[in-house]
Amino acid sequence: MSTSQSHNQDLLSRSLRSVWHPCTQMKHHDHMPLVPIARGEGIWLYDFDGNRYLDVISSWWVNLFGHANPRINAALVEQLGRLEHVILAGFTHEPVVQLSERLSALTGLSHCFYGSDGASAVEIALKMSYHYWKNSGRPDKTRFISLKNGYHGETLGALSVTDVPLFRDTYAALLMQSRQLPSPDWRNALPEESAEDVALRAASALEVHLAAHHAQTAALIVEPLVQAAGGMAMYHPRYLREARTLCDRYGVHLIADEIAVGFGRTGSFFGCEQAGIRPDFMCLSKGITGGYLPLSVTMTSDDIYRAFYEDEMSRGFLHSHSYTGNALACRAALAVLDIFAEDDVIAANRTKSAQMSARCQKIVQHPHVRQFRNTGMIWAFEVETQDPLFARRFYNAALDKGLLLRPLGNTVYFMPPYVIDEDQMDILVGGTCTILDDME
Ligand SMILES: Cc1ncc(COP(=O)(O)O)c(C=O)c1O
Repeated sequence: MSTSQSHNQDLLSRSLRSVWHPCTQMKHHDHMPLVPIARGEGIWLYDFDGNRYLDVISSWWVNLFGHANPRINAALVEQLGRLEHVILAGFTHEPVVQLSERLSALTGLSHCFYGSDGASAVEIALKMSYHYWKNSGRPDKTRFISLKNGYHGETLGALSVTDVPLFRDTYAALLMQSRQLPSPDWRNALPEESAEDVALRAASALEVHLAAHHAQTAALIVEPLVQAAGGMAMYHPRYLREARTLCDRYGVHLIADEIAVGFGRTGSFFGCEQAGIRPDFMCLSKGITGGYLPLSVTMTSDDIYRAFYEDEMSRGFLHSHSYTGNALACRAALAVLDIFAEDDVIAANRTKSAQMSARCQKIVQHPHVRQFRNTGMIWAFEVETQDPLFARRFYNAALDKGLLLRPLGNTVYFMPPYVIDEDQMDILVGGTCTILDDME
């Protein structure tokens, strides 16, 4: 065995002994090896043997500009020499102020409250919405609504507004009450219905619910344009416009969870832009640091901020996390915003999206493929199969071809870093077609 192979093996067995891996039935690793990663470069991940994997899922949708990106690295090295972290209660620092100013300019939402992971941003938005209504003399507004098939994270509050049975059902007894309303997912179209018709039908269901329950409802939370973890369901922006109008009419907050779709994934910087709406709260994480460090932000308006601005301590928002507004993470986020501006990434992605979609025609025509769809830099399709272990088998077959792909049930999706080039697109589409062919 070569040294690198023994290093691979050694790391695998030590990891299985000491690390409880996320979102995993650990027993499955009796048969399915972990993948040891030694280093990353651009779109590729390398093991100790020099095998490489194309990171088609951007390491859980966080990586935008490739692994070990020289520009983000340089920004972090520079920041490391000055300040790694400082408590954000009572203190402040340059990166957090600059980042807040730049995010406010991009969203029109004036205040940034920082957390660490996406789920903490969702918890903050839910608590802030409820607390806003309480401070405003409406303590009965304690309920939240979300969409069928929506996903907002796995802490108890976030899981309460999540509708993915695999993650939710086990903990149902611990969750707070919430209602899941029809999703505008265009795959729900009846014969002759357009995507916009489906959006309008889902909006009518929202209106019926709000008309009856607005007095108890604090907020509606949605993933703009793409319901990601629920199976890459895509929908028409009209739903967001209708939801904005209805939330205004009935005095209910609109929370846009842009954790997966923000930072260019849908083709615009934020999904909400395509509907021309401004939410009351926007949750950001994942791509915000280019996949480098955990950071999340819950942004809100001046109106909402003002409802907490009083002498009385308990009317303030007394929520915190130890790493809130971490200086290194904020610096990485500033480097990400610089890359977006300097490289005109949104325009460049339009070209990449078209190049990728053209190649995907081979997939669209494959006899096992159904409901192919694309929004910006996300592509997804259903694979017709009776195999209950399809997702695991496809994942393993993809790894054999040097592709990191993790289907959600029968849904295969591509969400690559934006640095993907045309050769890598060919490798991805060619490899996927071969795996589909081999299933016959
Ligand atoms: C839309 C959305 N919201 C919230 C989350 C939770 O983020 P995190 O896993 O960082 O807690 C995710 C994660 O996939 C997500 O896709």
